[in-house]
Amino acid sequence: MITSRATGVLNRYRKFLPVDGSTPVVSIGEGDTPLVQARSLERRLAGTEVWLKLEGCNPTGSFKDRGMALAVSKAIEDGARTLICASTGNTAASAAAFGARTSIPTVVVIPANGVALGKVSQTLIHGAQVLSLRGSFDEGLAVVRELAHRPGVAIVNSVNPYRLAGQQTAAFELVDSLGDAPNELYIPVGNAGNIAAYWMGFVAYQEAGLLTNTPVLRGFQAAGASPIVSGQQVLAPETVASAIRIGNPANWTLATTACRESDGTIEAVTDEEIIEAYRILASEEGIFTELSSAAAVAGLLQRARLGHDVGPRVVCVLTGSGLKDPGAAVRYAPEPVEIEANVSAVTQQLGWDSV
Ligand code: F0G
Repeated sequence: MITSRATGVLNRYRKFLPVDGSTPVVSIGEGDTPLVQARSLERRLAGTEVWLKLEGCNPTGSFKDRGMALAVSKAIEDGARTLICASTGNTAASAAAFGARTSIPTVVVIPANGVALGKVSQTLIHGAQVLSLRGSFDEGLAVVRELAHRPGVAIVNSVNPYRLAGQQTAAFELVDSLGDAPNELYIPVGNAGNIAAYWMGFVAYQEAGLLTNTPVLRGFQAAGASPIVSGQQVLAPETVASAIRIGNPANWTLATTACRESDGTIEAVTDEEIIEAYRILASEEGIFTELSSAAAVAGLLQRARLGHDVGPRVVCVLTGSGLKDPGAAVRYAPEPVEIEANVSAVTQQLGWDSV
């Protein structure tokens, strides 16, 4: 039932994780994601090296698999019989995949409106029980947190510290690839766990003598769902970036502490800026990412536009794959042209000489 192949974050970063010989190693091949240089963004930001960490290349298409691998391994070690989470979609898909892998029944609670179809379809086909809640992600998380007190039930949201411990591995990979930390790390912020996890990872590597300076964290919320920026909960968060449509982040304090310690900021980007970055990534870099992930790049472009100094070497974390939400791409791209099925119709449409 449980595999222990030499892949995945538990095997690769074992000595930095809270595991020992009695922890089963669960993996679906997560981690080890590409880090690619963004030449087109670099042309817009003269003098800055820009790297993109493609977390959409994880097995379920988002960064969640890193933390889920550890959370589920520890849940099994602790005798859990059910996994449960609230989700805007990606956590649900990842929990469902790991639940399927380990034969543990998985319950996910998602908002009835606004979860991308790709995420719902993954979760369903993995066999999780999907409860579509008439309410927001924040309300769903409150319900799930209560249910998590029951014996045998393991909550696998980022309020589970093993999720964050597993997600540190992305920071380790960055340093291992670049040879040091970047000057700045650009990252979208929703429930605010991932930004805190990166910080934990950089600090752990610094303590181990594996990097010289920690990066400045640059977190970005969508303007219509930016409670950390405004300093108050948002009761009806609204943004095109549905993965980060969150009005009361569970890891609020952890994220603001991490940000302060890094000398960084959490700021807001508008939906228009997110869509612009999403289009640039797809049409100029060849990287199809989620709208929510594009918030990181929107933040980078915004800071440059506002005249802020952008560090000499920055990384943007692209948290999820664009394939999660093909509907968004269709909405923001030109429509295909329908023509007759012959050569002259094609050449005419393309403005080429007829044959
Ligand atoms: N990017 C994507 C693609 C996400 O799915 C999420 C969170 C984030 C960024 C924000 O990360 O919550 O650690 O600040 N998605 C959660 C979910 C809420 O349920 O899938 P965070």
